[in-house]
Amino acid sequence: MRMMEPLAENVHIAADGSAIEIVNQTKLPGEYVLKRVRTAEEMYDAIQRLEVRGAPAIGIFAAYCMYALAEQMTADNHGHFPHAAGSDEIQAFLDALGKKAAFLRSSRPTAVNLAWALDRMMRTAREKANQITAARAAGAAGNPLVDEPAPAQIAEALGDEAILIQKEDIEMCRKISEHGLSLLKDGDGVLTHCNAGPLATSRYGTAIGPILLAQEKGIHIRAFADETRPLLQGARLTAYELQQAGVDVTLICDNMASIVMKNGWINACFVGCDRVAANGDAANKIGTSGVAILAKHYGIPFYVLGPSSTIDLSCETGADIPIELRDGEEIRSMHYEKPMAPEGVKCFNPAFDVTDHELIAGIITEKGIVRPPFKENLAALFG
Ligand code: MRU
Repeated sequence: MRMMEPLAENVHIAADGSAIEIVNQTKLPGEYVLKRVRTAEEMYDAIQRLEVRGAPAIGIFAAYCMYALAEQMTADNHGHFPHAAGSDEIQAFLDALGKKAAFLRSSRPTAVNLAWALDRMMRTAREKANQITAARAAGAAGNPLVDEPAPAQIAEALGDEAILIQKEDIEMCRKISEHGLSLLKDGDGVLTHCNAGPLATSRYGTAIGPILLAQEKGIHIRAFADETRPLLQGARLTAYELQQAGVDVTLICDNMASIVMKNGWINACFVGCDRVAANGDAANKIGTSGVAILAKHYGIPFYVLGPSSTIDLSCETGADIPIELRDGEEIRSMHYEKPMAPEGVKCFNPAFDVTDHELIAGIITEKGIVRPPFKENLAALFG
């Protein structure tokens, strides 16, 4: 496995190149723990348990996973992939990679970034395979495409692509933060739900990005973080990230959003997204749509911030977005010292909801602020 310069992000290849290293988000804010994952099962679990979470971070992680798995599949065979005698090594390798991608894809359904990143990695693998096949058919001697083992070359291409995906995300988040900040002025109050900060992306984040950028520029923003039941991403992660950055942040329970809006403390709502449909309906952490409904009532603009990798024009409306259902134990007992509900009580625990596009003032991507009508304007920018 070649050595890679690790990017100092919350998802990166371990310095010795043997595994993916993530900041285990389930341990925050109490402990800052780096966790190494190596096998496909460990990767699946890390996504499923939300050790790595947030739509863009899941995509970046999945990309690195594909690279690491590809390397592992060739490591013990000097860059070759063990395959049945007489079969095509390249095709066997692509088939095996495809199975790993399908397995990782099944870990969480809502954030389209996961499928987007896996599809992009498989496309990269196929393109490299085609180049190798074409060079070999032409028989050009001295060409590394001809001489080097094909699986090792494909794995290397996957490594380059994973780094590119992460670098692009850093760029996109910076631009989203700048566009978002253009809507704010000194002294504004911003309410956010869940966590769409650096932990959920690469740097800056999406919904939290403009607030962090404001802080860097000496612009005072009063941030209000919904705690975000049941898994408390707002309390555990958003409050942590903003406090660490020195931002004026106030933590509230989800059911307090109405009173802070009524008090006149909120000038805008900024939230992240897991998938945006072609008509502008946006899936995000459960409770987001309630915030949007409240914001409309109080006449506060509600913005959705996300990179283009979160826009899924193949979903016509929010009704086409699959919503993850999670274990009821997350409501009954998790984060409590003792269970706070009768044992075995029936629970409904959707991890996301869809905010109707009519409630959204703008969708902020790296390409700018998309305003209604979303169907036309999203198609013009991303179609
Ligand atoms: O279940 P989670 O914690 O992965 O949910 C995350 C969110 O809903 C975020 O707001 C979204 O992924 C955007 S992160 C930039």
